[in-house]
This record gives sequence, C-alpha cells and structure tokens, in this order.
Amino acid sequence: MSDEKLMKLKLHVWRQANATSPGQMKEYLAENVDPHMSFLEMLDVVNDKLSEKGEEPIAFDHDCREGICGMCSMVINGVPHGGHKGVTTCQLHMRHFKDGDEVYIEPWRAKAFPVLKDLVVDRGAFDRIIAAGGFVGVNSGGTPDANALLIPKTAADAAFDAATCIGCGACVAACKNASAMLFVSAKVSHLAHLPQGQPERYQRVKNMVAQMDAEGFGTCSNLSQCEAVCPKEISVSVIAGLNRDLLKAQTKG
Ligand code: SF4
Ligand code: FES
Repeated sequence: MSDEKLMKLKLHVWRQANATSPGQMKEYLAENVDPHMSFLEMLDVVNDKLSEKGEEPIAFDHDCREGICGMCSMVINGVPHGGHKGVTTCQLHMRHFKDGDEVYIEPWRAKAFPVLKDLVVDRGAFDRIIAAGGFVGVNSGGTPDANALLIPKTAADAAFDAATCIGCGACVAACKNASAMLFVSAKVSHLAHLPQGQPERYQRVKNMVAQMDAEGFGTCSNLSQCEAVCPKEISVSVIAGLNRDLLKAQTKG
C-alpha cells in the first residue's frame, strides 16, 4: 500500500442471485481503498470482507485485467466502464474517486445481454454474431512470405483500428436502443479493409446484420454514445462503412 490517504467509499451494487430472480441495489462500504488500486482490486477487497463475514461475494466478470479481453463489463455511476476516455473498468484506478464518494455499480442493461448473476451478463450474442460471418472461410493456402501480399498502409491502419474492438459490449450498454452496430461494424470493417476479407465481404455483412437483429439488439440511435464509451475509441465512421456494404449487398445480391 502507498502512503497516500486511504479512502472510504459507499458502494451501491446491483445484486441478483440468478437469471430469473429479481435484483436490487445493495449498499456496501469499501474501506482502506488505496488510490493506486484498480476498480476491480477495490471490488476484490470488498469481496474478501464479504467472504470473511460468510456473505456471498459480488459476482463480476474479469480475465486479463489489462484492457484486452473485454470481460470487465459494468456500468459505473451510469456510464459503461466509468466514463474515462479509452479506459476499461479493469484499467480504471481509484485515484479518480474521492474519500466519501458514493459509487453506483450495475451490469450492462440490454435485452440481448441477460443478467446471469449480480454484475455478470451473458454476452453470448456477440459470439453468435461472429460465428455468423466474422471470419475468413476461404482456403488462403500456407503462410505467405512477408510483404508478398501488399496492403496499402491506409488500409492496414484502418483494419487495425477496427480490429482493436475487444467485444466488451459497452457500446450496447450505452445506447438507448441497445444497438450493437459499433461492435458489428468494427468486425465487418476489420475484414473489409483487407484483401483476405474480400471473397465473402458482402455475404458476411448480410449474415452478421441478420444475426444481430435476431439476437434482439436495437437499431442505431445515431447519437454516438457508443463511440463515447468505447474503451478502444472505435469511431462511428465504421458504421457508415457497414451501411455502405450492406446497401451494396442488398442491391447487387
Ligand atoms: S466497439 Fe468498443 S465498446 Fe463496442 S464491443 Fe468493441 S471495444 Fe467494446
Ligand atoms: S478484464 Fe480484460 S479488458 Fe478488463
């Protein structure tokens, strides 16, 4: 622990025993919070205390704790991932809070992401969208020599920017329509910019959009809340790209 002043926070946390039971906000004290702790470490400390008292720890998803797996889905004070630009919950540090703060912690709220327990939601809908088309299915042979397949730098950069999407679902949680357009467009855009993605380009966009609709995600609100909360700062311009490809796919067949 550092010498900096330790903080005490009041947490209001969504508790829900399972997918079918009703949930409610419950209060907890987070004591001895070091400003250098991450938000998840703060929750770990709260959970240790709950376990010591024989109470059920707060269930939350996490894996890498490095901002790359997309698991740490939670809404903090009304904003997915807590509202700090380009930051996932696992990379959010307690120095952004003050002693005595009250913090409200809830799961993603979207019909297509049902709550499984407390802060844990089922994001399987994203996996099914990827399975519907987010891959290159043609046999592309063995690994080509480096630089044998020339790709313009602008295309490589655009593909890489889109590929940084970690599938966290914050874009859905922030959208009043619970739209998954930013996620789906990022995945479509990643492959649409590369030569390897061309053979199935238009079928891919149709399949992924059809699956997105089947999962119950809403339509794009055009308000760009998704871009504002995206921890990878994916631009809504990828949505325009998806719409262009979808229009071509529908008109040209
Ligand atoms: S587009 Fe951004 S907010 Fe949406 S799933 Fe990908 S990384 Fe998360
Ligand atoms: S735990 Fe992996 S991105 Fe946060």
